[in-house]
Amino acid sequence: MQIQWTSQYNLGITMIDDQHKWLVDLYNKIDNAKSRNQPAEILGTYMKGLIHYTRFHFNAEENELKRIDYKQFVEHKASHEKFITKINEFLNEFSQGNEDVVQYVLDFLKNWLLNHIMHEDKKYVPFMKTSSNSMAFQAAARPLQTTI
Ligand SMILES: [Fe+2]
Repeated sequence: MQIQWTSQYNLGITMIDDQHKWLVDLYNKIDNAKSRNQPAEILGTYMKGLIHYTRFHFNAEENELKRIDYKQFVEHKASHEKFITKINEFLNEFSQGNEDVVQYVLDFLKNWLLNHIMHEDKKYVPFMKTSSNSMAFQAAARPLQTTI
């Protein structure tokens, strides 16, 4: 089932909201490809794109958290790493021919992402908003284009 972006997911930090929307878009693309029974090759490409973009996003977010000296940086980074490990496990299984994992990826991604935004990411918002040069950061770190 597709994710509809609603204002409750906005953090009010343009750069990060744009990246989260991009992740939701990737989720929707995979969901769409799966429900249209696209070949494994296409699903695999989408999932690699997902990992690639997620790494970029986590990196951008972590750099910003470091810059504002966020007190819960270590926990936040650990949560990102756990997610990457899990997605990598799914991707390995997928490359070994288990196509059922696409649905696990979708379920996991949806639950994790929306929960993470609503509960973990929202905690750093007040600190980032009061930080002095976040506007410069926002201008410098627009989402990358991916190949899919
Ligand atoms: Fe995060």
